[in-house]
Amino acid sequence: EWPGEMQQVFSPIGEIDAAGGFTPRLLGRCPILDEAAALRAVDAADRAWADGMGAWPTMGVAERIRHVEDFARRMAARRTEVVRIMMWEICKSWQDASGEFDRTMEYLRDTIDALKDLDRASSRFVIEKGIYAQIRRAPLGPVLCMGPYNYPLNETFCTLMPALIMGNPVIVKTPRLGRLLYSPLMEAFRDAFPAGVVNILHGDRRIVKPIMASGRINVLAFIGSSTAADALRLAHPHPHRLRCVLGLDAKNAGIVLDCADMDLTVAEALQGSFSFNGQRCTALKMLFVHQKRLDEFLARMDEGIRKLRIGMPWDEGVRITPLPVPGKSAYLDDLVQDAAAHGGKVANSGGGTHAETLYHPTVVCPATTQMRVYHEEQFGPVIPVIPFTDIETPVRYVVGSQYGQQLSIFGNDPDDVARLIDPMVNQVCRVNINSQCQRGPDTFPFTGRKDSAEGTLSVSDALRCFSIRTLVAAKGSDANKE
Ligand code: G3H
Repeated sequence: EWPGEMQQVFSPIGEIDAAGGFTPRLLGRCPILDEAAALRAVDAADRAWADGMGAWPTMGVAERIRHVEDFARRMAARRTEVVRIMMWEICKSWQDASGEFDRTMEYLRDTIDALKDLDRASSRFVIEKGIYAQIRRAPLGPVLCMGPYNYPLNETFCTLMPALIMGNPVIVKTPRLGRLLYSPLMEAFRDAFPAGVVNILHGDRRIVKPIMASGRINVLAFIGSSTAADALRLAHPHPHRLRCVLGLDAKNAGIVLDCADMDLTVAEALQGSFSFNGQRCTALKMLFVHQKRLDEFLARMDEGIRKLRIGMPWDEGVRITPLPVPGKSAYLDDLVQDAAAHGGKVANSGGGTHAETLYHPTVVCPATTQMRVYHEEQFGPVIPVIPFTDIETPVRYVVGSQYGQQLSIFGNDPDDVARLIDPMVNQVCRVNINSQCQRGPDTFPFTGRKDSAEGTLSVSDALRCFSIRTLVAAKGSDANKE
């Protein structure tokens, strides 16, 4: 039963006619739920929770793990379909889409292992000041999970699975771009979990606000923009009671010192700025390059960009593919024009020349504070470069930024690198040395400061985010110990 309207889903890959008109290809149809149907999903999750007394929250850990293992087997069997749809729906290359699927399966296995460890620790008794206590991990109640379009599977599962395995019923609102790839998984969800425990909804903001306004969501797990997260939190009638696990905006800087190894730096800068077209929250979105190495750096970047393969997701070794967000090429062009109008020299600009949704990797130098690209999170293949002579310049940028996810430092002199780490380690949650910024491995903590995150996403941290420590305590006596 699918109440609501059927919506056509188009691919960013399409046909360009002789007059230059672009027609995106129809990929499929997807039921978009209305408010009443969304609230029925909240009812279902509420029934599965039943004030913490439902079968799922009170089920033993071993049994919950069996359900998740059953799901993982069913999911693994649908790998080819999910990967192929992801390639068409968001234009992730075959290599990256397969990587996203495999990384998600690994996340599932690691989550099961981490839960076993947590459960072993929770089964132990401690005795303190004459009190025998068992510290358990208990679920929190219905969770709303929303992942982003750039990792529609992996970054939804990074909250969905830990929330679920800890005993919380979940409602998943699939990403607007990246919802069709859930179709091959629907049966697996239905067959592996009891009714009402997992509720997958396709819809838009018309359903999300009413879900939050119902006041029956206990945890909001959202990965996307800071503005959207604020609006969701405030739609809840009791925001102070809502736990939030958020992965938000970032504008990570890379700092290239004059002691940098240029081969390594350029390889990492290319990957960090342009992998999946720069559509990663962890992408390098600003580069500070020491004036002494600037010409060499720009020449090497230019050389590297010319070698980046531009094409379709199935092309061997492709790096730059069509952009799924409607109007994104035009937005990037605006940023680049604005930079040029403010004196920025633009290299490799080719927005829209290959095809409507393709944007060629572009470097803007020198970038200045007057430019929009200095302030806005471009989330695309455009990288501003700021020359510096004094390390105060990048430090001021990082300290003054409203975001605080990660940064990268490129340099071979340990003293110079160390001098930069100390003033900045309290500004971000990961400092990468001679490497691009990145989330993985997923067992490492992944979070951010300021407007970039709330809570920590990684295998074992996430289990803690979706649970609360609860005590069973008794005054010390041998009888109570038993
Ligand atoms: O888009 C944000 C992702 O968390 C980035 O993950 O660094 O593994 O590409 P990644």
